[in-house]
Amino acid sequence: MEFKSVFKTYGDNTVVDNLNLSIPEGKITVFVGPSGCGKTTSLRMINRMVEYTSGTILVNGEDNTARPAHELRRSMGYVLQQAGLMPHRTIVDNISTVPRLNGVSARQAKSQALELLNTVGLDESFAKRYPSQLSGGQAQRVGVARALASESSILLMDEPFSAVDPVVRADLQKELLRLQSTLGRTIIFVTHDMDEAILLGDYVAVFARGGRIAQFGTPEEILREPADDFVASFVGRDRGMRRLTFASGADVPIHPLDAQQTPWQQWQLNVEDGRPAGWRIDDRVIPGGSLFVAGGTLRDALDSVLSSPSGWGVVVNEQGQVLGLLKSDDVLEATERERLNRYGVSA
Ligand SMILES: Nc1ncnc2c1ncn2[C@@H]1O[C@H](COP(=O)(O)OP(=O)(O)OP(=O)(O)O)[C@@H](O)[C@H]1O
Ligand SMILES: [Mg+2]
Repeated sequence: MEFKSVFKTYGDNTVVDNLNLSIPEGKITVFVGPSGCGKTTSLRMINRMVEYTSGTILVNGEDNTARPAHELRRSMGYVLQQAGLMPHRTIVDNISTVPRLNGVSARQAKSQALELLNTVGLDESFAKRYPSQLSGGQAQRVGVARALASESSILLMDEPFSAVDPVVRADLQKELLRLQSTLGRTIIFVTHDMDEAILLGDYVAVFARGGRIAQFGTPEEILREPADDFVASFVGRDRGMRRLTFASGADVPIHPLDAQQTPWQQWQLNVEDGRPAGWRIDDRVIPGGSLFVAGGTLRDALDSVLSSPSGWGVVVNEQGQVLGLLKSDDVLEATERERLNRYGVSA
């Protein structure tokens, strides 16, 4: 997919200003940027829910104005900013509408819809409900299921997870990445949340006000070398922390449980069935911090240390069994090695 010198104006107002962008096939490309910078407009020009003023958009190598707009629209999955379900239709009908329009039999569309419900973590009891009977998070899951139902290789997702709480959001993000690892679709995902962009994007396009692209690259490139002050400030003060998402925490040494020394020695890790169960101090037990799953990122390693009541990060394996402890000094040393490595400087 490709944008070539695309403009969109409303009267005197240019909301998309000479957009040139090649969107890699089979990858997730995220449009990120502040409110009102033209992300939704750019997304909607792809399936012509918004008609552009000038320029060309190629979809699968073909000018997207060559086909009738309704046909183009149906050929792509689309998730709206607010799930956008049809209120008078059941969940199962909401999911199967587009496949039905595309000629799939009623039976097949229904069984596929039920399968998709499962995929997004809802059981079949939801099929007969109406959108008003769902929570915001459930409705967004249905929105994602509906987009997946269009068998198209292209999915357009406009802030699909913005209306849900952070826990559900993290869940949906993980689910999307899991699905994408088997589906390999071309996904364009809009968000104004840089963390979400970094987590989900194979590529990220940072939009600036006035519908101009300030930078296009991998999340790592953008964090390492923001193109200008705008990108640097949008990427935010946490840039240093975020970068650690791309560094492995695998070479941070893991200490045995009895390695604790002053000033932490009064803390004891409670272990039940091999799993961490809080930190004991005097006669109290305090819930533990975030766990570091062995082989995780340096950001996870640092977070496990910073969030731990004892100051020691707890390392577990994939099954949640305790493997040992991380020490903050070791984590900081690893960040230092990573920094030198990043710029190709030897210590
Ligand atoms: N139909 C319209 N008529 C006039 N101006 C419009 C219209 N649609 C959008 N705009 C303007 O175009 C600009 C870009 O809007 P757009 O919805 O693409 O922003 P966005 O980046 O998606 O923002 P948000 O993060 O808030 O969703 C805004 O200034 C908006 O007011
Ligand atoms: Mg928008």
